[in-house]
Amino acid sequence: MRKKIVAGNWKMNTTVPEGVELAKAVCEKAAAVPENIGLIVATPFTHLASVGSVLTGRVELSAQNCADHTSGAYTGEISVAMLKSTGCKWTILGHSERRQYYGETDEKLVEKTKLALEAGLGVILCVGENLEEREAGKHFDVCTAQIKNVLYNFTAEDMKNIIVAYEPVWAIGTGKTATSAQAEEIHACIRKVLADKFGAQVAEDTTILYGGSCKPSNAKELFAQPDIDGGLIGGAALKADDFIQIAMSY
Ligand code: 13P
Repeated sequence: MRKKIVAGNWKMNTTVPEGVELAKAVCEKAAAVPENIGLIVATPFTHLASVGSVLTGRVELSAQNCADHTSGAYTGEISVAMLKSTGCKWTILGHSERRQYYGETDEKLVEKTKLALEAGLGVILCVGENLEEREAGKHFDVCTAQIKNVLYNFTAEDMKNIIVAYEPVWAIGTGKTATSAQAEEIHACIRKVLADKFGAQVAEDTTILYGGSCKPSNAKELFAQPDIDGGLIGGAALKADDFIQIAMSY
């Protein structure tokens, strides 16, 4: 059975003390969330060690990116070993904001995913089409290509440590959520693309999250879809009450 997960992507928000307070509040309220729902917070790099030290085992720590090299002369970069040493269990990779603003390519994501898995980090790989691609009817093709370009370089065994997040770019931070039907049809497509390469069982066991203006008022309907296994939450993850309410929407 695949795991249901609600992950908060804090993006470039909060100072370290604010992040520590937010993490503490999430942990306190997490007691109300059913045990079968995994909780993750993805903080800025600067927060990982301090937030990691206040997280209870119930909430796992994630980074939002990692370097595409192991160590050395790469000023400003953060390696997977550094992430591991903070208590990090996961890293988000391929978020559309990184693809769009920092030139992250599928080729780089293959490298980063390799390094993360080798270091024992789980990967939350984001895919999703932008508005222009959706309006041109290319959303299935774009998501399929992103999945193939990155994940087809890995094995069924690797897939045990990979979560996919479908985040339509036009729904991120816009208040415009994909309808549950729009999200479900892409999730089902992603699962089929995974099944074609790794077999039906691996596809069945892979957690696929939805992200993009997910909030307490729409999480229930999204999570009720058969191929939506939770959410990757941006804005609403910055409020412990909203984040936990979303996690309780199953
Ligand atoms: P919002 O929930 O703010 O739309 O952001 C979604 C997201 O990008 C999570 O990674």
